[in-house]
Amino acid sequence: MSNPEFPPLSLHGRLRRAGPWALLLALLGVAQTLLVVLAVKYENTRSQDETDTLATETATEMRRDLLSQMQALQVLAFAEAPAAAWREGAAALLRKRQGLWRVERRNAQGAVLDAVDTPFAPTLVSILPRKDMGVDADLACSAASHAAAPMFSRTYFVPLTGGQGVEVIDLCLPLQQAGQPAGFLVGSLALPQVLDAVLQARDARRHEFSLVEGDGTRLARAGVPRGAGIYVAERVVDLPGVSLQLRADAAAGRPSLIPNLVTALVLGLSLALFGVVLLLARDVRRRAVAERALAEALAFRKAMEDSLSTGLRARDLKGRVTYANPAFCAMVGFTQDRLRQEDGMPPYWPPEFAAEYLQRHNQRILGQAGRSPQEQREGFETVFMRQNGERFPVMIYDAPLVDGQGRHTGWMSAVLDLSAQRRVEELSRQQQERLQATARLATVGEMASLLSHELNQPLSAIASYATGSLNLLEAPDTTTPGLLRQALERIAEQAERAGRVIKSVHDFVRRREQLHESITADVLIEAVLPLVRLQARKSGARIELDLPTKPPRVRCDRTMLEQVLLNLTRNGIQAMETGTALAERVLTLRVRQTHPRWVVFSVVDAGPGISAEAAAQLFTPFFTTKAEGMGLGLSLCRTVIEQHGGALDFSAGPAGRGTEFRFTLPAPKAAETGETVGSAAAN
Ligand SMILES: Nc1ncnc2c1ncn2[C@@H]1O[C@H](COP(=O)(O)OP(=O)(O)O)[C@@H](O)[C@H]1O
Ligand SMILES: [Mg+2]
Repeated sequence: MSNPEFPPLSLHGRLRRAGPWALLLALLGVAQTLLVVLAVKYENTRSQDETDTLATETATEMRRDLLSQMQALQVLAFAEAPAAAWREGAAALLRKRQGLWRVERRNAQGAVLDAVDTPFAPTLVSILPRKDMGVDADLACSAASHAAAPMFSRTYFVPLTGGQGVEVIDLCLPLQQAGQPAGFLVGSLALPQVLDAVLQARDARRHEFSLVEGDGTRLARAGVPRGAGIYVAERVVDLPGVSLQLRADAAAGRPSLIPNLVTALVLGLSLALFGVVLLLARDVRRRAVAERALAEALAFRKAMEDSLSTGLRARDLKGRVTYANPAFCAMVGFTQDRLRQEDGMPPYWPPEFAAEYLQRHNQRILGQAGRSPQEQREGFETVFMRQNGERFPVMIYDAPLVDGQGRHTGWMSAVLDLSAQRRVEELSRQQQERLQATARLATVGEMASLLSHELNQPLSAIASYATGSLNLLEAPDTTTPGLLRQALERIAEQAERAGRVIKSVHDFVRRREQLHESITADVLIEAVLPLVRLQARKSGARIELDLPTKPPRVRCDRTMLEQVLLNLTRNGIQAMETGTALAERVLTLRVRQTHPRWVVFSVVDAGPGISAEAAAQLFTPFFTTKAEGMGLGLSLCRTVIEQHGGALDFSAGPAGRGTEFRFTLPAPKAAETGETVGSAAAN
């Protein structure tokens, strides 16, 4: 059901609805990206910090280690032992200190007096002679003698046998004897071994450490892995006479996105959030659809209420109008607002009935509980007043209003304006009356020949008696007065007879008020009997009455019923006129009470019966087989009987010949004892 008030959403409307969702998704996207970026950044910082700390610690350690090497050598410098003892001390020291590969004793001019090499490493002075690689040591020694303190040399490369080489740093300690410079003690340290020794104590499994020169040339390296070159930290190891550059390089590469726990968590969360947003969006869409359906249903209901021609009115328990549809407003002529404002009497109650209505209303509130739904649904008639003061009849059907919790909160009433219906009823009543009068006249018209025949007899008798009397008067004798008297009596008799005929016709035609009354069956039959007998006499038929000793009462409109009886008897008599022997022309009128509520009337003739063909259209208006017939009798009879709530039918006569027409009429209820009872139309 599509409603013009709710066209499908326009593009603009859709965009407006999608807007907030798009914004939400965008914000979610930004937040998620930010989270991921921050997580990666955090990871970066953490790795860099770790590398930094490790570099600082290792540099400190390295410096400590090199200085301790220096202290160990100083022990050897103060011992002014003979050569053999010195060598022994030096060898012991070389065995103890890893990284220290060679110790030399030099004189004040720098010439090597004595040298001991470590047993754990190849001899340094193997490929190149000592003097070719001694420049750095000489410089350190001269600096040491100037400062009168141990000095480190610059590092230099020493090629070894087997194509390898090692970066070496020399440490020169000035020797003094009695305050005079007495030579130098030179220790050569292999940097890779020194570095290894330092790292042995540290957790350096995830970093590569190296000593580099200022230009980045690597002098020595240590540590298991190769550095990835991403998290790098360099520290200066400050030593007397020289500074070494220590570089720590983490083996870890850039943090990858997924294997990272934080990132994975964030991504998972984002997915979940996205799912929730989708669910929400679907829910919202469903709600929107439901809302639209509800709005449409409401609009439909409103259109229905507004288009209804029946007045609808809702009232609360106090009788205040809470709702009135347009039809009700139009009916009484007040606006809905005006009706709702009213606190006391509704404005459509006629003032003269207000007290009565109020009482009825209160009674209804009290009596509501005791009434069955059937009773509650039955309407009642009352009178309302329009705004212009006009009173009009209405029919009200009330139904209790029950709220969601099952509480009775008031009444919903359907109000029907009966004034139009009343007008139609009045019109139809008038028409009905006119029709009946016409029908009666038509019957009389049909009977005109019969009447003329019937009146002809007394009239011709009167005429002949009158002629006879005149003759008597022309030649009077002694018998004349007696005869004259006799003739005049006959004339009076015949005139009376003619008068009776005229009266029976007049009685029949006279327009009587249409009333449903309770009368006995014999009274009904006797009323038409004179006319029936007239007809019967003309055709030579006998009339037989078959009534119970105590004739039952029926409830009917007597005028109409007389017409029915007259029609049926006339048909019966007419049917016997041709095919039936004079002796057999009997018409029986029978009345029986078959049921406490119903009385059956039968009109039985001895005619030729009714052919199946004729039977099919017997009750059709204007169906007739008679030359002078109108074909209206039976159709009128059936209408009248059905209006009384009865039924009219026919069958073959009881003896297998002739026809029996039967109709039923309601018996009055026990309470109605003969006096006139108002029919529905009269009220
Ligand atoms: N008792 C009857 N026996 C045989 N035929 C009948 C009888 N009553 C009615 N009919 C048939 O039904 C027809 C219709 O009857 P009716 O409606 O009274 O009109 P009408 O009497 O003017 O012909 C008659 O013409 C006749 O053929
Ligand atoms: Mg007829």
